[in-house]
Amino acid sequence: MQESMLSSRRSPTHPEEDGQEGGDGSFDDESKTRKSASFGARAFVHTRSALSGQCATVSIFLFFLVSVASLLFSRSRHVLCVSPYDPSTRTLLFGAALDGLASDFGSLGVPWYPTKFQGRSKQGKAVEWSRKDLLKGLEEFVKIYETRPIKNNMYGMGFDHSFGLWFMARWLKPDLMIESGAFKGHSTWVLRQAMPETWIISLSPRHPEKYLKKGPAYVDKNCTYFAGKEFVDFGSVDWGSILMKRGISDLSRVLVFFDDHQNELKRLKQALNAGFQHLIFEDNYDTGSGDHYSLRHICDQYYIRGGGHSCFIESDEARIRMKRKRFWEKAVDRDELCGNSEEWWGVRGYMRDDFNHSNKAISYEEHFQNSRFVESVLDVYWELPPVAGPSLTHQTRYDPARASDPIIEDGRFGLFQRFGLAKLETSVFNGYTQMVYVQVSASAS
Ligand SMILES: C[S@@+](CC[C@H](N)C(=O)[O-])C[C@H]1O[C@@H](n2cnc3c(N)ncnc32)[C@H](O)[C@@H]1O
Repeated sequence: MQESMLSSRRSPTHPEEDGQEGGDGSFDDESKTRKSASFGARAFVHTRSALSGQCATVSIFLFFLVSVASLLFSRSRHVLCVSPYDPSTRTLLFGAALDGLASDFGSLGVPWYPTKFQGRSKQGKAVEWSRKDLLKGLEEFVKIYETRPIKNNMYGMGFDHSFGLWFMARWLKPDLMIESGAFKGHSTWVLRQAMPETWIISLSPRHPEKYLKKGPAYVDKNCTYFAGKEFVDFGSVDWGSILMKRGISDLSRVLVFFDDHQNELKRLKQALNAGFQHLIFEDNYDTGSGDHYSLRHICDQYYIRGGGHSCFIESDEARIRMKRKRFWEKAVDRDELCGNSEEWWGVRGYMRDDFNHSNKAISYEEHFQNSRFVESVLDVYWELPPVAGPSLTHQTRYDPARASDPIIEDGRFGLFQRFGLAKLETSVFNGYTQMVYVQVSASAS
């Protein structure tokens, strides 16, 4: 059942096969119109020959009918926003609480990336882990999470992303782990739980030990800190010499974790220059939100199912967004989404960086080129699903219409309880922002 729901959400073909990209690699937004026109023209010729000898008014009338029908037909074949969910199942599970909204998901779906993305490599290989592996890991992780030194990690990671980081670090078994953005050290602690023996390099302007004076924090013994007076930004580190000192020659054995609220395009390019291949970004904000340009922003494009947005004030999307805002705190309504000239990409047409201390307007063309670049250098893009459905976690922040299906789906309270998740404070489920794992193509690094 879950499998069939998932497969129904995948893009059936690569967009390039859909003919939505120009042969020179440029995006041709008019290709759909052109297709409609040629279909209409062919229908017109056909209609004319069939009706030869009959009166012109009838032919014109019929031509209009056929053209309208062909337009509708062509549109339904090229609709980009698809429902990521089976609406009837969702309505059943959510019941009256979401009455009517479940069926609206179609216009505001999760951006489903081309087949090579969404956990699949260019060779068609998916990420190695399955939903079953995630479930198994989740059961194990709850007990570990209960022992965390920093119980209240406000402004840092909550449960969902802690699980994701732990799960992926444990699965990938790197020889070295690098984190950028440590705060009090919770994510360092999570990495340590995943890999008890592996060296960590942690970069953060303020050393986590500084927080120890005020309350719980975590400082790791087997970690090199570039923090406090020794702080160096990830992009300025001489990685060659650092890795050599640590005896690392195979960069595919290094995992880099970013939780530093920097422009993720900038970070990706820096990681690429250094030759790193396995990257995790903690705050992968949805379009229209967040304090930095995220991979989710970058990948959200017209040619991707569920991607690209309408700023038309009376559009279905605007209406649905307004409705969803009432239920989900972090849902983005039309006014938050769109700039003065209807820029919907990034955050109202801006590429934010460094906790929004820097803010640069970009054109749609630049934004689109960024997405082409990201696509060209990545083999895998995989968003961590939320650990459990909102009716179980009681979270009301991220909008489930813009996230993938949770690992424990709504309605499965028995499982949620059996895993020990019901014992956790509800606030630990508040921080889900589509944490993403990306694998850089070996040829690009
Ligand atoms: C959201 S917090 C990190 C939370 C932490 N990973 C956790 O799970 O608890 C962001 C951190 O990034 C740090 N930061 C700010 N600029 C940075 C930079 N250029 N490089 C690395 N870290 C940076 C901030 O000082 C802050 O500690």
